[in-house]
Amino acid sequence: MTVAHRDGLALHFDCHGTTETLTLLNRHRFQASFPQVVAANGNAHDAADSPIWRRMNEFSHHGRTLPRSRFRVYRAIDLPVGEMQTGKHLPARSRESPADEYLEQAFIEKGLLLSRLIMVSNRVTLPAGVAAAGGLAVAISDVLRERSGVWFGWSGKISNRRSASPSVTTEAGVTYATVDLSEADHLAYYSSYANGTLWPLLHYRLGLIAFDHLAFDGYLKVNRNMAARLAALLQPDDVIWIHDYHLIPLGAALRDLGVSNPIGFFLHTPFPVAEVFCSLPRHEILLQAFGAYDLIGVQTPTDARSLASSMERVAVTPPGFGRRNRILPLPIGIDTANFAELARQGVRSADTSRLKSSLAGRDLIIGADRLDYSKALPNRFAAIAVLLTDWPETRSSFTYLQITPPSRSEVPEYQRLRRELESAAGRVNGKFAECDWTPIRYVNRTTPRSKLAGYLRIARVGLITPFRDGMNLVAKEFVAAQDPADPGVLVLSKFAGAAYEMNSALLVNPYDTHEIALAVRNALKMPLLERRKRWELMMDALQRNTVATWRDAFLRALTEAARPAISQPEPRVA
Ligand code: F6P
Repeated sequence: MTVAHRDGLALHFDCHGTTETLTLLNRHRFQASFPQVVAANGNAHDAADSPIWRRMNEFSHHGRTLPRSRFRVYRAIDLPVGEMQTGKHLPARSRESPADEYLEQAFIEKGLLLSRLIMVSNRVTLPAGVAAAGGLAVAISDVLRERSGVWFGWSGKISNRRSASPSVTTEAGVTYATVDLSEADHLAYYSSYANGTLWPLLHYRLGLIAFDHLAFDGYLKVNRNMAARLAALLQPDDVIWIHDYHLIPLGAALRDLGVSNPIGFFLHTPFPVAEVFCSLPRHEILLQAFGAYDLIGVQTPTDARSLASSMERVAVTPPGFGRRNRILPLPIGIDTANFAELARQGVRSADTSRLKSSLAGRDLIIGADRLDYSKALPNRFAAIAVLLTDWPETRSSFTYLQITPPSRSEVPEYQRLRRELESAAGRVNGKFAECDWTPIRYVNRTTPRSKLAGYLRIARVGLITPFRDGMNLVAKEFVAAQDPADPGVLVLSKFAGAAYEMNSALLVNPYDTHEIALAVRNALKMPLLERRKRWELMMDALQRNTVATWRDAFLRALTEAARPAISQPEPRVA
């Protein structure tokens, strides 16, 4: 037996076993994670000079067709290495049981470090590129900043030149692999199906759905093409994590190509109840596609129940390879400490000072959302009008800054919304403005995160009232950005996923403009003690569930679900 160790983690390898364990381990990560290996005779070797390392190289040089590695991971536990060599502290079970049983611990505890993480999302933010709008891109960047790997997806470019392989660039340990879309593919996959059909469906907006069979076929085709290009980059030890509704069929397309790696999927949007989802023509195909994943993460328990009940209506086939197909509610977090620091610094920036002095002592109410009908912006503007009408004493006492970068402007519904918002802001301002004050400042541009963080910190009220939202990371960022000594108040839609954790916010029904107006008025008047109490509870939740805990929980659950079942199958929703 040989022991590789690093810090408290030790892995035992039995060179006479016949399991496939080590083929799952990435050699380079092995060396990085376990600089030293202790052989059974007690001699210590540098990892690169150890018998295990040599065997790993031997196997990997022969590529995928070689017989499985003959090492067996016995156990990964925190024991002094000396004790582990004798094996005397291992429970009897661990000396006898097959490696499978201990893979879980080896992988789940720290062994996850040993596999390469492949993140897949529709959009990829290249290191030199402009950050994509929306929380997903930020979350993936945060995950990859701490844990290197590959980020695969659409380049954001439309090009009719066909290229079989993705463009690849590596920076700071992350490999970015991107593909362009042809004009026809972009129209069918992104504009028509993902954003013209799935997006309204997932947000309960049946009236806005445009279903077109050709667009659906185009969506499936792009997913198949992406699968072919991704499959060519994969190594046997990779763990694949696919994100969002654009790529629901990607896992199934990879399985069709013979990919047996663990594949997880995370849905960042809400998932509607089965009655709504199953009104989608050809919904069976998408529900079957969900079956290809070892793990499906969703934002809330409600989403998990809705997806499970939709899948129950269709006889969904599990991923195969003896593995589970689990659905788990795992609310996405933010990099709380980092964002709080960004806000602390941002407040001292010239931009924030400029904003502050322009307020002339008035309270700042702030909203920041992509231009999207799910965000209920016309209702927010209407609620401001109600506030100024029903509580005239609030006139001239605040400025509402709404930052709304345009998005999906090629989709007709978004073009209509843009026009509607411009005239709604104009109407409210025209009615209530004074010569030295306008109630609404509507900014239709992207604002860098560092700037936004400073703005959020000086705001008295965060006004975030979408009709539906998977999570809404801006709501979390607003909380993280606050000054603990004098925090602002979050007015939040009860239909945003964030409301589950941020339940000390003033929760409102986004359809009720009077309720929103009242909540804003209460927020403006809220005494410091109550503001602090509410903020502390929310900040506590944000510190417990960060983007790093979300990542680790997802990868742990994925590894567990992908481990070949050795006992009874578990229920689908955990
Ligand atoms: O959060 C949902 C989402 O669609 C993400 O997948 C995406 O990154 C973001 O909104 C922005 O949307 P788009 O890429 O269509 O501009």
